Amino acid sequence: MLRSPLALCLTAATLVAAPVRAQVRVASPDGRTEVTVGVREGRLYYGITRDARQLITPSLLGFEFRGAPPLRDGLRVTDTARQTHDETWTQPWGEVARVRDHHNELAVSVEEAAAPGRRFTLRVRAFDDGVGFRYEVPEQPGLGAFEISDELTEFALADNAHAWWIPSNRPRMDRSEMLYSSGPVSVPDHVQTPLTMRTSDGRTYLVIHEANLVDYARMNLRKLRMEDRTLQADLAPYADGVKVRGHTPFVTPWRTIQIADRVTDLAPSVLGLNLNPPSVLSSTDWIHPMKYVGIWWGMHINTMTWSSGPRHGATTATAKRYIDFAAANGIGGVLVEGWNTGWDGDWIANRNAFSFTQAYPDYDLAEVARYARQRGVRLIVHNETSGGIQNYERQLDSAFSLYRSLGLDAIKTGYVTDTTAEGHSHWSQFMVRHYRRVIETAARYGIMVDAHEPIHDTGERRTYPNVMTREGARGQEYNAWSGDGGNPPEHEINLFFTRLLAGPMDYTPGIFDILIERGTGRPRTPEEARVRTTLAKQLALYVVLYSPLQMAADLPENYEGRPAFQFIRDVAVDWDTTAVLRGAIGDYVVVARRQRDSATWFLGAITDEQARTFDVPLSFLTPGRRYVAEIYADGPGASWRDNPLPVAISRRIVTARSTLRIAMAPGGGQAVRIRPSGPR
Ligand code: NOJ
Ligand code: CA
Repeated sequence: MLRSPLALCLTAATLVAAPVRAQVRVASPDGRTEVTVGVREGRLYYGITRDARQLITPSLLGFEFRGAPPLRDGLRVTDTARQTHDETWTQPWGEVARVRDHHNELAVSVEEAAAPGRRFTLRVRAFDDGVGFRYEVPEQPGLGAFEISDELTEFALADNAHAWWIPSNRPRMDRSEMLYSSGPVSVPDHVQTPLTMRTSDGRTYLVIHEANLVDYARMNLRKLRMEDRTLQADLAPYADGVKVRGHTPFVTPWRTIQIADRVTDLAPSVLGLNLNPPSVLSSTDWIHPMKYVGIWWGMHINTMTWSSGPRHGATTATAKRYIDFAAANGIGGVLVEGWNTGWDGDWIANRNAFSFTQAYPDYDLAEVARYARQRGVRLIVHNETSGGIQNYERQLDSAFSLYRSLGLDAIKTGYVTDTTAEGHSHWSQFMVRHYRRVIETAARYGIMVDAHEPIHDTGERRTYPNVMTREGARGQEYNAWSGDGGNPPEHEINLFFTRLLAGPMDYTPGIFDILIERGTGRPRTPEEARVRTTLAKQLALYVVLYSPLQMAADLPENYEGRPAFQFIRDVAVDWDTTAVLRGAIGDYVVVARRQRDSATWFLGAITDEQARTFDVPLSFLTPGRRYVAEIYADGPGASWRDNPLPVAISRRIVTARSTLRIAMAPGGGQAVRIRPSGPR
């Protein structure tokens, strides 16, 4: 199963022993970012400068344990080692095809001067686009099995930077499905990562996150002291308060600080991918990015139910209708939710009642699978756990082998819960292990995964490219039922510059029935249950919000006879190149992406509640080549609030010398396909 890294273009490694000093430095390959590591009064600190300007002032490192003294004091540096690395590797799918991993590495080994003389190594990698560091604790007599009660890692920000965040402690502990706030980073006391910040002089953007979270607790951040802006790692706990259980040797996830001069340089973010091990799958040929439709939105707008009864969504007949629709429109997949028993009654309280193999009587899984295969469409099997982890784990093998035997190769998992049935935090090491087990088991059975209510993305897709996409933020579904005003027009722009820096998101774009006029049932006011964008912006989201499994989320009947649907049929899901052309967090973003193995480009632009116009040079196109631009713009008088539907579809010939005028309505957007025309 194991194999060496994917395509290697260039690899260079040199090992140089360095003299032991109290303070050591490593610089990024371009020399602009420098990390200093040193011991002061027996404690280990790191700091970061960019162009000799402090970004992170000396910040403490170390651990506290249950049942053992902290590993923090009386430390001295015993060894340092350096290495440099330059490699370009190819992703099986992604926002970009090729990724360069070019960094300088410094490993600083420290030891307690007094007994028990425990030791660890801090490994630091400095890239042009940021810094990663992690703790490596070797096997040793003084430190075997341990229980971490706190990781002491600090991020002491030199500047009271402007931040965009979602809280990690409100309104409930374990949710990422919230709207973003922004303000000085000294304001919030508990935040989730990725935490995006802009220094007050506007010169630098910083994003704190983590990479390669495998067997550890998820990291949030908390303000260390009320009066300053030092953030500290805040690990999600087990039910008994312990954060991490393990034994040496062990390594922590990487703590990452992405650094960019301009907001448009933040995406695509590859720092975390470079800090994950290469793929362990012997073949990735079976993994296919695709668009999908689903028996899904009907439940959210209350025209269908997950549970059995007269409005049961997952019937054999409805599934076949969706499969026919997908086949007729070149859409690769069909998701079916509510197919399996366990949804009747309170499906959150009855979390242990879910079966992952037994279908409701009106849904013939084998027949639907056969029909899908015959029509060249893939079924995405839904596995909602409600956080009944042991119930799901008990069934993993039998469920996945059933799916496999029916030729099904994709699942969507769900974890609608705050804490697990076992009482552990949704983000605890217990859950990290669970998500990892699902990924690994799915890989063994040849199954792709789309996880909702997941652990945040820390780049697992490099090692397990069957991890396609996940939710982990407030998605489109909130427009159907949130009751708190849904997702405001700036929301998707905030997502682009925060959550999506971690990895792909299954936002589920493409709602055409903007006012949800087909929804029935639940009493609601139009102000409450509706989508807060124009229709053109729904199209633009396919380009802006990257996901290798990208949903056409509306009911098929809402796409019938709608010319704008052609864009969803045409838009790609796998990219060679991504360029952010314009952007301001919370305001607007313009993204161009070139389809993988193709000369066709797609452009997506979205704005908040303000109308905006940009003239965008198409200089990214190949010089001398003619293209046809198929433009889906906000139509005359369009506005998200009271006139969301007009879309003006037009065509024009463009070249690399052309400029495209992108005029967006309030809450609007624009989607463009730019395909080669005629001979070169
Ligand atoms: C929440 C998920 O985000 C949504 O997509 C799904 O339909 C429901 N849970 C039910 O599993
Ligand atoms: Ca959700």
